[in-house]
Amino acid sequence: MANKPFLTDIKTLRERARQHIENGAVTEGYSADRETVVKLLNEALATEIVCVLRYRRHYFMASGIHAEGVAAEFLQHANEEQGHADEIAQRIVQLKGEPNFNPEGLLMRSHAEYVEGNTLIDMIKEDLVAERIAIDSYREMITYFGNDDPTSRRMLEGILAVEEEHADDLVSMLDKMG
Ligand SMILES: [Fe+2]
Ligand SMILES: [Fe+2]
Repeated sequence: MANKPFLTDIKTLRERARQHIENGAVTEGYSADRETVVKLLNEALATEIVCVLRYRRHYFMASGIHAEGVAAEFLQHANEEQGHADEIAQRIVQLKGEPNFNPEGLLMRSHAEYVEGNTLIDMIKEDLVAERIAIDSYREMITYFGNDDPTSRRMLEGILAVEEEHADDLVSMLDKMG
């Protein structure tokens, strides 16, 4: 440990930064496997898009005695999932990848499912299941990114915290409805 240099020397840092400037934020020190990171982020993007679609469907279809409050919650979640999708797409571009918005194969790339649900309770349960899938898969991605891509990791950590809030909201709704 005593002999381990703390940082790359300044001369090397400066020289390296001048090479391949077209790669922008992706520098020589980027130690993650960029292709795998982009692939995983595209799966997260597909998951978010499927969640936007499912929540929006639920928002428009919510009816019944508890519908008003629940519909408002569905809409809020839908909008937050859209924000996540945008963040993820932006990061993919930063990494010199291409965000995949192709509807073909969307459900295959997504970890969460698209289930319409017949009743308000079914809808909430399906949304809860989808959140729990996202929570587990994002947690795994976060561990995989580790210190190799701290920016993608922190972005997903922020998104994960919101998915946990969503799951918590949905459980509270189920409790209220008995
Ligand atoms: Fe999300
Ligand atoms: Fe969510």
